Formats: sequence, structure tokens, C-alpha cells
Amino acid sequence: ASPSQIYRTSYHFQPPKNWMNDPNGPMVYKGLYHLFYQYNPLGADWGNIVWAHSTSTDLINWNPHKPAIFPSQEGDINGCWSGSTTIFPGGKPAILYTGINPSNQQVQNLAVPKNLSDPYLIEWDKSPYNPLMTPTPENKINSSSFRDPTTAWLGPDGRWRVIIGNKLNRRGKALLYRSKDFVRWTKAKHPLHSVKGTGMWECPDFYPVTSNPIGLDTSTVGALGIKHVLKVSLDDTKHDQYAIGTYDHVKDVFDPDAVAAEKFSGLRYDYGKFYASKTFYDSLKKRRILWGWINESLSREDYIAQGWSGVQGIPRLLWLDKSGKQLMQWPIKEIETLRENKVGYPPRPLKGGSILEVQGVKAAQADVDVSFELSELKRADAFDPSWTDPQLLCSQKGASIKGGIGPFGLKLLASKDMQEYTAVFFRIFKGQYKYVVLMCSDQSRSSLNVKPDKTTYGVFLDVDPLHEQLSLRSLIDHSIVESFGAKGKACITSRVYPTKALDNEAHLYVFNNGLANVTISNLSAWSMKKAHID
Ligand code: FRU
Repeated sequence: ASPSQIYRTSYHFQPPKNWMNDPNGPMVYKGLYHLFYQYNPLGADWGNIVWAHSTSTDLINWNPHKPAIFPSQEGDINGCWSGSTTIFPGGKPAILYTGINPSNQQVQNLAVPKNLSDPYLIEWDKSPYNPLMTPTPENKINSSSFRDPTTAWLGPDGRWRVIIGNKLNRRGKALLYRSKDFVRWTKAKHPLHSVKGTGMWECPDFYPVTSNPIGLDTSTVGALGIKHVLKVSLDDTKHDQYAIGTYDHVKDVFDPDAVAAEKFSGLRYDYGKFYASKTFYDSLKKRRILWGWINESLSREDYIAQGWSGVQGIPRLLWLDKSGKQLMQWPIKEIETLRENKVGYPPRPLKGGSILEVQGVKAAQADVDVSFELSELKRADAFDPSWTDPQLLCSQKGASIKGGIGPFGLKLLASKDMQEYTAVFFRIFKGQYKYVVLMCSDQSRSSLNVKPDKTTYGVFLDVDPLHEQLSLRSLIDHSIVESFGAKGKACITSRVYPTKALDNEAHLYVFNNGLANVTISNLSAWSMKKAHID
């Protein structure tokens, strides 16, 4: 393959060329899934932003359409930035998005389908009342920090609500607006939520969840066991963080269950690369699905040279963990239709210091699911309570640093000579009251090319290795690895750029670099077919 093509993915969504960032307005309409996304029609760098558009029957294979929203009015002449769709009772969709006006101010606009009988919704009409929400000296909204409307929800009082990302000085805010007709919007006196010291909140998302994977429509109120999630994309750290809490319908505020001062929350959708994400309610299959943008770890100069930048993660099913303290995520089951040539191993021990090659899969384009059972827990190293940063711990204790229990896990996109590999693994420590499980994704040896960013990622996993198996699923797709620990309790996505471990030269291993033996209780791996994408 030509240098511009070697890192392209086979089943992750990406346009044929150019720059892509945030997923916008995902929805289902007349049985078809729609994905819009921030796109530069003129090049591989950010700029000239339009809403590109594709549709799908299965969220895996996609058909491209012409851009749905592009600069054409005063309210968006300098760019059509992120936003969301809302489905009205009766099924009509509408788009709220941020436009950049001739003075480079951020304003909120409305667009509706031109022809509701077209399931592809190719043409969109912009409201003659645009812009519907504007920054003014009276409302004290900073015109460069006012963007990314969410899906609106309908309150029991018959008024729509929407939130818009904002900041005032260093205080991040989810500004709340209400409307009876979706056209005339009034800013509420209080934001839905705000946290000082967090900087700009981009791409907010607000939705109900329960511990049942059957999802809820965004406007649902009063369902049994309901909690609300507020997600924000923190511009300062480029992380998508979420808080779980209660939505007070009377005061119209979000009360998070637990918050650390000056922090939005410690919870992230993904502890690697994953930004500007958005959920939608899939009314066809009654589930809530999460889309997220995964950008390049290449330098700007290098992604411009390759002619494209950015992929979307595999859509994830999302629900509340039984503890009520965190979300669970799992690749949508449709992705399994791309699996072929399964390789399975019966349970077997994996001795400390050993490595096993998983043969017979296309290791550059694979889905791997492995579970481990631990019997020698007494060999766990002591956990030092000062280790509060899992990412730092993972970077100090990389895949080649021996421990009592672990590191054990996968070495993937590995070259035969092991000069290149990405390691996704666990390490178990003995804490004062319980075992501490660390999950890491170590990119430090992922490429002989010194230029890409190879930051190591890590997270503490809330599992009890005494009573539970430890599972790891990784979706490998040439230059992306999406890993799901403990059946979806934590996710780590990384971008890697091997120079040797490409296509048929890529290998896949299960390794145990700890002192204790572990048992591989299940190991299944599949080669993945190429999806039809644009
Ligand atoms: C997030 C973001 C949004 C904005 C869009 C512009 O990545 O900066 O806040 O609307 O991208 O493309």
C-alpha cells in the first residue's frame, strides 16, 4: 500500500480522505442509521467545517451522501460546527448546530429535512429564524465559548430543553435553554450544571440510563432506577468525562452523586484517545449507543502528508453498572457480523515469564477476547497508597517490567522480532482492604518511527480478582486498538503506527511477564472482514 494508505482502517468509520472530527447528530430515521460528522472537504487539516453525512442499515457498513449542512447563511457562513439531532413525537427529526457568523461569533441554528419521505434525508432546510440563540452583552455569554447543542428533551410541562457548552472565566457550564416551539429559545437563569476551574465544556451530552442495557429515550422521566449522565468534553485535557447523578425536573438542575472539588469527575468513557463523543437512543433496537472521535497520534505535518486524519470508534452499547457508580460499554453486537475464521483455545496455563502466539488470525484486523483466572493471588505486590494516578503507574510499570502478578495480557500489532508491539495488560496489587487491578495500554514500543505520540494509558478497574475472571477484548484495526477491560468496565483506545508489524507481518500474542502463573480460561480470536465504508 502507498504510504498514505497503510494506516487506514478496515472496519472503523472514516471518509475516503481529508480531515474528520466530532460525530454529529447520530440518529435512526425510517429504519436507517444516520451519521453526520465534522469534515473538511478541502484538506486533511481542521478547517472549512461542514456536516458530512453517511447512512447505514447496521452501523457497520456505510453509504456516503453529500454534506447535509454547509455554510450558506449569515449564521453559519464561517463554519457549521457540532450539534445534535432531536426526534419530535411523531418521528420528525431536527438538527441544532453551532454556526460561526461573519464576526466569528458562535451562534445556534436549526435545520429540518426538506423532504420527510426521503429516508436518506439528503436535503436540509435551514430555519429562516436562524440564529436562534446568540451571545449578547446582556446575557454575558462569551461569543467564542458558546457551542455544541445537545439533543433536546421534552419536559412534563411541554417545553423543550437543550444545553449548550460554555465557560465563564475558568468555570465550565452547561447553559440551559427552553422553548415551546423549538424556534424561540429562552435562556434559563441557572445552568443545568457548572463546575469551577474546568475550562470550556465542549460537546455536552445529557441522557437517562438504568442498569438495564435496554436504553431510554432522551426525554424519558420517572422510569424505575433512572439516573442521568452528564458528559462534557474538556477542552483543556481533551478528555470526555462524565458524572452520574439525578436530574431534578422541578429545579431543572443536575445533581451529581459524587464530585471532587474543582474537578468535573474522575470518570472517563475511555482512558486513551476518545473525544467529542455523543450518544443517541436507537429506537429500532431499544438501546443507547455511543460514538466517539479518535484522532491521530501523528504529528500535524505527518497526517497532512498522509492526506487524512481521524477515525470514529466502533459504536458502543452503553448502560449503567449495577453499582450505579459507573457506566458499562461494549462494542455493538453488529460488529460480530464481520468476524470470520475463529481461532479458539481450550483453557490452559500461562506460566510466569511465558508468551504464546495466537496463530491463524489476521493480526492486523482482528477481534480478540481473552479471560484470565488467577490462583496465586498471594504473590501480588503491595500497593502503595500514594499511587493515585493509574496512567503514571502504567508508564512506570510498562509491559517489560516484571511484577508479582502481571503484567499479563496481549501483545498486538507485534513484529516477529518483537521490535514493535502494543501491549494491553493487567497487573494486580494487594491493597490494604482489597486487590487493586490496573489495566494498561503501553504504546511505547508500538513503532520504530520516533515521531508519533506514544503516551502510555492506564486505569484502575473495579473488579475483584478473588471472585471474578479478568477479561480483555481488543478490536485491532491496523492503526487503532480499542480495548475493553472486565466486560466493559473500562475502555482504552490507542492509535499506533507500526513500521514492520503491518498487514500480514503483524502478529498477536498472549503474554505473562509476572512471577505468578495465570490461567487462560478463554481465548477466542477472529479475523475481521472489511466493512463497506464510503
Ligand atoms: C470539538 C469541537 C467542538 C466544535 C467542533 C468544531 O472537537 O471543537 O467544540 O463545535 O469541534 O469542529
